[in-house]
Amino acid sequence: SWTADSFVESTVAQLKEKLGDDKVVMGLSGGVDSSVAATLIHRAIGANLYCIFVDNGVLRKDEFEDVLESYKELGLNVKGVDSKQQFYGALTGLTDPEAKRKAIGKTFIDVFDQEAHLIEDVSWLGQGTIYPDVIESVSVKGPSATIKSHHNVGGLPDFMKLKVVEPLNTLFKDEVRAVGKTLGLPDTILGRHPFPGPGLAIRILGDITAEKVQILQEVDALFINGLKREGLYDKVWQAGAILLPIQSVGVMGDERTYERVVALRAVTSVDGMTADWAHLPYEFLADISNEIINKVKGVNRVVYDISSKPPATIEWE
Ligand code: XMP
Repeated sequence: SWTADSFVESTVAQLKEKLGDDKVVMGLSGGVDSSVAATLIHRAIGANLYCIFVDNGVLRKDEFEDVLESYKELGLNVKGVDSKQQFYGALTGLTDPEAKRKAIGKTFIDVFDQEAHLIEDVSWLGQGTIYPDVIESVSVKGPSATIKSHHNVGGLPDFMKLKVVEPLNTLFKDEVRAVGKTLGLPDTILGRHPFPGPGLAIRILGDITAEKVQILQEVDALFINGLKREGLYDKVWQAGAILLPIQSVGVMGDERTYERVVALRAVTSVDGMTADWAHLPYEFLADISNEIINKVKGVNRVVYDISSKPPATIEWE
């Protein structure tokens, strides 16, 4: 029967055999899959694995620094690349969700390609693809292909001419976590909620500006830290905040305000394909709403999303 220990042992041996003295380049996202995949490959080939972690400007608050630090602690050979301005440039004026996804995907490939060229004689691209990604990338080729374009699979531009190594492509998420645990990855990485590649760009409805990103990062951090503080983080499958493209009237002291509205979203799910809105305690929602409105300048109203998937999706875009 399958065990994480035997998977690690046989996979590391296979990777050694397959990769030999070859160099592998890999983009990390901070998520469970790419972190576990990188750690496995690192076990096999050590410093011949070159990891790249890109700040696309739409990560969570402090995520770039925090995640880079944990990767370094794991001994990974990782380069952090600050490409915020390049991404903001590519996103300027875009409001359509798919256009935003495409702009981010394309900019990521540009940055990644540029960084990969700095590594001499690299011949492999490492990827954190897991089994459900493989299935989904096949099944979305139907009429629904345009509903949402996940660019995690098959996004290899042919000018890179790299062979692909995907050590997790037969595993389900819970197996990936078990492998990560065996490899000694910290809970801060293994217990992470999923976070979309296009990041906060698809949680800011309408166009993206550095100011909106900053507001949403603050709101999101208060919400996520609140969930952690109250022991709720591990009880929900995914959570985050959405910056709505509307303003609403409020009152502060004697002043009438006309400011932004944020939505909080938390769901329970097994695989993200279906999801229920998380029945968070009213007291928690009340406290977090107050905290957000008191602390985040420019926000005067908080709403909680009580839609399930289907028919709603987890993200708003
Ligand atoms: P939806 O909104 O389709 O989301 O219910 C299901 C899961 O997929 C994530 N998601 C994405 N992940 N690129 C990604 O890497 C994307 O473009 C993307 N869109 C949605 C979403 O966060 C949820 O976990």
